[in-house]
Amino acid sequence: MSPSPVTGANPLRDALDRRLPRIAGPSGLVIFGVTGDLSRKKLMPAVYDLANRGLLPPGFSLVGFARREWADEDFAQVVHDAVKEHSRTPFREEVWQQLAQGMRFVQGSFDDDASFESLRDTIDELNRAQGTGGNFAFYLSVPPGSFPVVIQQLKKHGLADQKDGSWRRAVIEKPFGHDLKSAEELNSLVHEVFQPEQVFRIDHYLGKETVQNILALRFANQMFEPLWNRSYVDHVQITMAEDIGIGGRAGYYDGIGAARDVIQNHLLQLLALTAMEEPASFDADALAAEKTKVLGAVRLPSDLGASTVRAQYTAGWQGGAKAVGYLEEEGIDQSSRTDTYAAIKLEIDNRRWAGVPFYLRTGKRLGRRVTEIAVVFQRAPHSPFGHTATEELGQNAMVIRVQPDEGMTVRFGSKVPGTSMEIRDVSMDFAYGESFTESSPEAYERLILDVLLGDANLFPRTEEVELSWKILDPIEQFWDTEGAPAQYPAGTWGPAEADEMLARDGRSWRRP
Ligand code: BG6
Repeated sequence: MSPSPVTGANPLRDALDRRLPRIAGPSGLVIFGVTGDLSRKKLMPAVYDLANRGLLPPGFSLVGFARREWADEDFAQVVHDAVKEHSRTPFREEVWQQLAQGMRFVQGSFDDDASFESLRDTIDELNRAQGTGGNFAFYLSVPPGSFPVVIQQLKKHGLADQKDGSWRRAVIEKPFGHDLKSAEELNSLVHEVFQPEQVFRIDHYLGKETVQNILALRFANQMFEPLWNRSYVDHVQITMAEDIGIGGRAGYYDGIGAARDVIQNHLLQLLALTAMEEPASFDADALAAEKTKVLGAVRLPSDLGASTVRAQYTAGWQGGAKAVGYLEEEGIDQSSRTDTYAAIKLEIDNRRWAGVPFYLRTGKRLGRRVTEIAVVFQRAPHSPFGHTATEELGQNAMVIRVQPDEGMTVRFGSKVPGTSMEIRDVSMDFAYGESFTESSPEAYERLILDVLLGDANLFPRTEEVELSWKILDPIEQFWDTEGAPAQYPAGTWGPAEADEMLARDGRSWRRP
């Protein structure tokens, strides 16, 4: 197929490019906050899995930066243990040995100039010994309060400079700010040091296969999109339920709460992908433009008291074991009002969605771990089947099962076998495990590879982050003026207030 004379596009070449393995060129990754949980459970195993899948270059280098008094070998041992415990792919000694050659540790604190000089020397040494070509990504897996100092130090020590065709990139973990004002401040600091194309803000939900599949489902098919609008959709429910409590994360979680922790980022990104218009192409600019447009059209209901709920878990039973309440968790202040559950109703002011509520909910210590997007359709306008009134049937729904049982379910009414015309709801399922033999990369694997390739498709832009805070800020401010949060026992599906919120609209939450 020859290139189109008008656009120069070559669909065949593009299709082939998409099927070729995407392999990172000469490069390295520096992790700040390397002693933290995220690093051990996700980042180190992801690096190993990428190497094991042959997607990293031979001299790939991994540098840890932390206060611990570790030698390179101690760091390599920590990575080794993390890989053995958390990697997805089998352990292969030869892959490990090659990866271990590029491992270095820099000891120091974020405000110490000498440590950043030593980081610079380490990078120079790796460029010579491992052929990393000066290409390094800096992963800030550090408490939010430390973002500014690390970014300033990178600038001060010339580590953000892209010399002689090399690249430098910053990867910033969430939470990106605490509210709109702090996110704007952080963005302006980041942009003093890095060009926009050097900055990768992590939202690990975008690295999940099922989340990327939302766009495939909507825009690679003809049968769903015609129904995907206010003429057919009654409402949308986006649920991210977790069965775990806050674990050992009191220091991070208390004062942040469920809405800031996951609605501001993961759930609003899911909403954006579900509701946005078709992008002109699957490239970072086009995607960001559409996500930004739809996030900018989100409207909060005027009565926040009736359309938001925040709650805290109390002691209860979960999976046959007794679970303590939030206020009894280690490190939590007795008077804490932090939300461990949040439900909000949003609307989108555009032609496609006007009048269709989007209900978002999330919580810790709920009935079970499940994330899903349910597009619930209007009832059939009329039933010709005599005694089976349409009101008796559930509404058709299309449920995108993000996790853990990845796939999609369509619910619809069907005739019950027998001599009468009785209709009952049934499901049609698509399960990843049954339809594909390919294994999904872990979200962090995909995202780290994208950073090394400079592919920004799956990373929220400045505007998206700020618009998301703009949506959440008035809710948080409203909650601050309210009394104590509602309560729900651990192991249940949240507070009665959340059920009442939907009941007022004549609807109910799905029980996933
Ligand atoms: C993180 C939140 O972003 O996502 C955690 O900070 C939450 O509180 C986690 O537990 C859930 O991620 P996943 O991939 O297990 O759904």
